[in-house]
Amino acid sequence: MSGRARIGMAGWGTVGGAVASRLGERLPGVELVVALVRDPGRHREEARRLAGSVILTADPDELLGADCDAVVECTGDVPLALRLARATLSRGAAFVTANKQCVALHGAELASLAERSRAALAFEAAVGGGMPVVSLLLHALRTDRPRRLLAVVNGTTNLVLDRMAAGDTLEAALAEARRTGLAEADASADVDAHDPAAKLVILAALLWRGWARPEAVHRQGIADLAPVDLGVAHALGYAVRLVAQAEAAAANGDDPGASPEVALAVEPALVPRGHPLAQVEGAGNAVVLDSDLAGRTVLTGTGAGGVPTASAVLSDLAQVLAARWAGQAPPPLPHTPSLRVADAGRRRAAAVWRLAPGRTTARAELAGAIAAAGLEPRRIAGAGELAGLADEEWVAVTGVATAARRAAAAAALAQRPDAYAVRSCLPMLEP
Ligand SMILES: NC(=O)c1ccc[n+]([C@@H]2O[C@H](COP(=O)([O-])OP(=O)(O)OC[C@H]3O[C@@H](n4cnc5c(N)ncnc54)[C@H](OP(=O)(O)O)[C@@H]3O)[C@@H](O)[C@H]2O)c1
Repeated sequence: MSGRARIGMAGWGTVGGAVASRLGERLPGVELVVALVRDPGRHREEARRLAGSVILTADPDELLGADCDAVVECTGDVPLALRLARATLSRGAAFVTANKQCVALHGAELASLAERSRAALAFEAAVGGGMPVVSLLLHALRTDRPRRLLAVVNGTTNLVLDRMAAGDTLEAALAEARRTGLAEADASADVDAHDPAAKLVILAALLWRGWARPEAVHRQGIADLAPVDLGVAHALGYAVRLVAQAEAAAANGDDPGASPEVALAVEPALVPRGHPLAQVEGAGNAVVLDSDLAGRTVLTGTGAGGVPTASAVLSDLAQVLAARWAGQAPPPLPHTPSLRVADAGRRRAAAVWRLAPGRTTARAELAGAIAAAGLEPRRIAGAGELAGLADEEWVAVTGVATAARRAAAAAALAQRPDAYAVRSCLPMLEP
């Protein structure tokens, strides 16, 4: 890379600090001229050490008025990021962001604005931290037709699920994730799956060239899981992962003319232990993409942390500046807010249930109740057969059915005279 550039940065925290500390070494000639933070006083000493004459400010207008070639946004503040993006792109400068919520909510608008202004919008750091999944989908697999994407894109919940598999409660596992700096004090965006839902919207937009609304993603977090659910999964040969999945409806998956209808879901699921998603440990991330020409592509990487995420930000910055110096137009991004989202109830899977009947029940009776509720009972195990189950609990594996049918079956089981409490019901991913 050659050339000189002036950049402005918003946010000097975990990610912004790691970007600032490596900018001079990795992108010589690129000067950090202004940085926006909430509290400039707190950053003055480090800023002087790392970036000499950088101006620290709490005023967004000072950042926007600095005539930078690119603005890098690492604040996490969505309205601020949107304001900075609009102003920066409108005047033809590049905007690089790590803000998944801003991109998921406003990607269509910002991509249109970028195209009209011939300005670059880049957001590798918004999904997968240091794992370059945006580049993979935007460049490497550009001409492939995607069929299905499966992903683990939330390192915090992956670490929590690993700890729960070792016997920790959700609370203890979260406390450990906070202690290691991986979870924030308020981890609800992770636990309730808002964070991976936003990332899934971005990945689906790159794959199917249209933006879905984040609320259109079927979303279930990990708050209702108990350690016994992970123990049962292990005994059956599976791991539990918070899986983000996007799948084109079979009818239009191979038809280039059809506007795709895509099922979007984030939910805990049983993943066969040999599957790449089951092998992601701790805070790792992984993506498994099935597409028509390349077949199966698997990417794993470090999903969070200041330095890995700075790798994504710096790479984006290097690319947008190189294109600017060469006078090249930035790669076209999807800008239609038109992704058709399929009814989440149509997703099909076998499932593992943890059930507690309202009175003592025999195995055959339980199998009959499940069949009467419209599902195929494939395997039933009681407290003596699987470790960790309470005396009154049973585990049932049911055959492949739609999510809507499973929901109807849960309601039917609860309404029986011997009312069955459904303590958990987790879909099983096929290999
Ligand atoms: N941390 C990760 O591992 C990771 C991974 C991938 C993506 N990301 C994304 O990267 C972004 C930044 O995350 P982070 O972990 O670096 O956050 P962070 O450590 O909390 O840092 C946020 C920075 O932004 C500044 N800031 C926040 N709101 C502001 C406002 N309204 N006006 C001015 N400055 C403001 C803060 O200023 P003060 O320092 O003065 O408080 C701070 O410097 C987020 O979008 C996050 O989702 C993070």
